[in-house]
This record gives sequence, structure tokens and C-alpha cells, in this order.
Amino acid sequence: MLSLSLSILLVACSRHEPDQRIVLGFSQVGTESAWRKANTASIQSAAATSNIKLLFADADQKQENQIAAIRDFIDQKVDVIAFSPVIATGWDEVLAEAKAAGIPVILTDRGVTADPSLYAGFLGSDFVEEGRKAARWLVGEFEGSDTVNIVQLEGAPGAAPAMDRRRGFEEVIAQHPRFRIVRSEPGGFSREGGKAAMASILASGSPPIHAVFAHNDDMAFGAIEVLDDKGLKPGQAVRIVSVDAVHEAFEAMIAGKLNATVECNPLLGPQLMTSVTEVVAGRPIAKRIVVDEEAVFTAETARQIIQTRKY
Ligand code: AHR
Repeated sequence: MLSLSLSILLVACSRHEPDQRIVLGFSQVGTESAWRKANTASIQSAAATSNIKLLFADADQKQENQIAAIRDFIDQKVDVIAFSPVIATGWDEVLAEAKAAGIPVILTDRGVTADPSLYAGFLGSDFVEEGRKAARWLVGEFEGSDTVNIVQLEGAPGAAPAMDRRRGFEEVIAQHPRFRIVRSEPGGFSREGGKAAMASILASGSPPIHAVFAHNDDMAFGAIEVLDDKGLKPGQAVRIVSVDAVHEAFEAMIAGKLNATVECNPLLGPQLMTSVTEVVAGRPIAKRIVVDEEAVFTAETARQIIQTRKY
């Protein structure tokens, strides 16, 4: 009887115990790529292991959805807001609202062009360097060749990785007059977008294409399908380099369709949760945390790496 009343008391108490966990509101770009899905999974599992309550909102590639989600997080008085901005501009107003409400904001994956005092820090890769790495690989691959005509498949217009990868790539290519970027088309970071961009480039008649630089693996997969259909031998007659290094890129390299991929690490969850815990404790975090250890993988290394690839 005594033990029964004790358990009833314990259940009653636990029912009314307030949730002491840190509350993190996170606005994600969408589900456009394998990279993005791995990034979401990393954030969700890291929040769960860190005992942080995650309020997750998918913006479906729209800035207005992200702004609405951030305003909703402010209304809910979350402890911290984090987001991966769909595009780089247009954030000052909503960031100022979060600041006025005393809620720190952490940018993950993609940066913004806004007053840096409006956010606590930015955790993500160096996209400009990724573009440079892709270009350097291409220059080495075509050593001793004559003119090299390149098609560039760009990410979503206005997104930091699209602008920065283009900048880094073009900066290196400009130093090598034999290399010419003959066409640049946006493909929205998705397989379907890459497919459509490649198809429209071929349909509109372009000079012979020797290489493709895709701003991410998914667009490269779409381009490979189109080149294959047209008998243009992706991976052989047309060399392809992309960014991300997701599992399927290793499969494509092993199959001889993709030649190289520059790693962009999506597993930002654990580092983000550390930053969240720090800002809630009132400790400053670095304004810019660059994700390190990003390699360039080629068909030669694909077989060994695929065994250990987690995403
Ligand atoms: O912001 C990171 C980029 O966005 C990844 O390279 C791409 O796959 C994603 O959609």
C-alpha cells in the first residue's frame, strides 16, 4: 500500500516537473541534396544526445519561410536560434529582432552579409577554398592538354556556397588561359536542377565540353545522366568534379562516371550543440568557426573511402 502511494506520488511529481532543457530553434534550408539530409540528421541526433530540445523547421528553399520560423522562435522565447540561410542577404531586420529579444543566433553551414554584431557566430566550411580546390584538381587533370572548355553548374542563385564556390573556382581558372568557362547555369543544388541545366546547355548548342564543375554532387549526378543519355561519356570524354563527397559520389567514382569530389562536411551537429551550450552559459564563441579536414577525393581513393563513408 505504502509503495503504491509512493509511486503515485512520484508519477504526479514528474508530470509537473518543468522541462529544464535548453531549447534550440533551428531553421533548415530544405531537403535538396544528400548533403542536406545528412546535415539535418547530424543536428537532430546531436541535439538528442546533448539533451537539447530541438524545434526544427524546414524552409523549403524559401527565405520568407525562414524569416517566419525565426519570428515564431522569438515568440516562443527559445534559448537559442540557429539557421542555415537559404540566401546570403536580407537578414538584418529579423536578426535585429532576435537581438532585441535577447536571443542569441548562431549561423550554421552558410554565412550572411549582415552586421556581424547581430549574430553570435558562424560555423561552416570555407566555400571559396572548396571552389579553388576543384579548379586546382581540374588544372592538374588536364596538364599538357590544349584548350579546356568547362561547364559550370551553379548552386541556387544568391546562396553563399554558390557565390563562394564560383568565386574560388574562377579565381584559379583565370590564372590558366587554356581553360575557358564556356557556360555557367544554375541548378539549385538538386539532381533535377543539374539535369535540367545540363540538358538546356546541350540543347542550346555549346562548344565541345571537356569538363564540368558542379557546385555539389547532386547536380553532378543529374548532369551525368544527361551526358550518358547523349553518349558523351561522363568521367572519360567529359571530366567531372563536384563538391560534397557524399556516399553516392564514391559509387559514381567507382563506376567511372565522376572523377573527383571536394569534401564539404555536413556533420555539424556536435559542434553546433557545443556552441549552443556555450552561448546559453553566457560564454562568447568564435565569430567564425571553419570546419576543417576537407579533402579532395578521386576515383583512385574511392574504393577505400566508401567503406567508411557515413553519409
Ligand atoms: O550549403 C551547403 C551546400 O548546400 C551543399 O554543398 C549542398 O549539397 C547543399 O544543398
